[in-house]
Amino acid sequence: MDKLKIEGGYPLNGEIVIGGAKNAALPLMCAALLTEESLVLDNVPHLQDISSLIALLEDMGVTTQREETRLTLTAKSVPRTLASYDLVRKMRASVLVLGPLLARFGTAEVSLPGGCAIGTRPVDLHISALEQMGAEIEIRDGYIHARTAPEGRLRGAEIVFAKKSVGATENLLMAATLAEGKTVLHNAALEPEITDLAACLTKMGAKISGAGGETIEIEGVETLSGAAHTVIPDRIETGTYAIAAAMAGGTVVLKNARLDLLAALVPVLQEAGVSIEENENGDITVSRRGNRLNAVDITTEPYPGFPTDLQAQLMAMLTVADGAGTVRETIFENRFMHVPELMRMGADITVHGSSALVRGVTRLKGAEVMATDLRASVSLVLAALTANGTTTVNRIYHLDRGYEALEAKLGACGAKLERIAA
Ligand code: UD1
Repeated sequence: MDKLKIEGGYPLNGEIVIGGAKNAALPLMCAALLTEESLVLDNVPHLQDISSLIALLEDMGVTTQREETRLTLTAKSVPRTLASYDLVRKMRASVLVLGPLLARFGTAEVSLPGGCAIGTRPVDLHISALEQMGAEIEIRDGYIHARTAPEGRLRGAEIVFAKKSVGATENLLMAATLAEGKTVLHNAALEPEITDLAACLTKMGAKISGAGGETIEIEGVETLSGAAHTVIPDRIETGTYAIAAAMAGGTVVLKNARLDLLAALVPVLQEAGVSIEENENGDITVSRRGNRLNAVDITTEPYPGFPTDLQAQLMAMLTVADGAGTVRETIFENRFMHVPELMRMGADITVHGSSALVRGVTRLKGAEVMATDLRASVSLVLAALTANGTTTVNRIYHLDRGYEALEAKLGACGAKLERIAA
């Protein structure tokens, strides 16, 4: 497996172009299953997770065409409504094919995503909500076997999610577009990726109101048509490079990004001593104000709270801040895998259950490290950029799942990193 060798201590100066949001593109690609016409998506990032979903959709019979960041998907017929274990285990978001398949074809077999490095991550909310829409669902041999009643379509329903879930909201939103009658989703998740999905579904002819709020109403229609849609910028990639600039020093301009999607990160960075501003042309300029950052406290929460997907990166930042800060993770159990690795680099961190106390040190030291999930991996890269000496980050295939051209983007700003092919 490839490794990344990073020599720390160089400031970052330059521009980084932010790609389309992985977590918006994945559900949008699944929405292509809802229509026999073509869905044209622009600003789709080149990432392993996108390729994995393309492989899954092609396996079902969807035709796909890629041209730079444009992805065209056509699900004219879908002879195989099956998402096999081999394809789903690579990426949990594959479960988002369940709602669209059931809604359009009345049948779906989708492998259970199974365990995952950051916790058990069940799909009970997806399943019980689809059952409330009249689906008959059985879990057998590690698969979700789902079908609608013989007369056909899913039925509109009033669904109250017991917990906010991004994936469940997206799956049900897609399922409801083709259901018979009206569906109301209560306690829906508010993430911008859901609003983006609703905007695309609306272009396809869906009748949706309230997306982006806690109550979403969907009036089912009989068919949807093709559409063209541009994926929103990746707010997690944006936040990651903003934190990188804050840690390494220098001035970085983030292009094609949207600061309004990072409303929870901006005050945290400002409190830590970072200047982060949107310029007139929409670019975002980030630079650290003093020599050293101040410690801050954060708690992860569903949107619009502080995103769990930036928790590891923020913790890396605290390892070199002045003073002690706490990080409380409320979304996923077991999302502190980066802690022992950061400690190998000299970080001072104490974990108590779902909270971590991080006491800043003046300088981390390069070391050999490894991470088991996407955001944990990138937090080690950030730590390495400021560390004294050389760090080798092993098993970087996780980075390729979610960060497009990471070495090129950071390298162009003066970071010294090199990919070593295994
Ligand atoms: C999405 C994001 C992921 C992010 C997460 C939280 C995508 C492709 N992935 O994941 O990057 O970290 O949101 O912002 O968009 N839960 C249940 N039962 C369910 C579903 C979820 O208990 O049926 C729990 C989960 O275990 C977790 C919480 O709900 O504790 C939130 O998970 P959810 O919002 O569903 O995350 P994902 O959609 O999987």
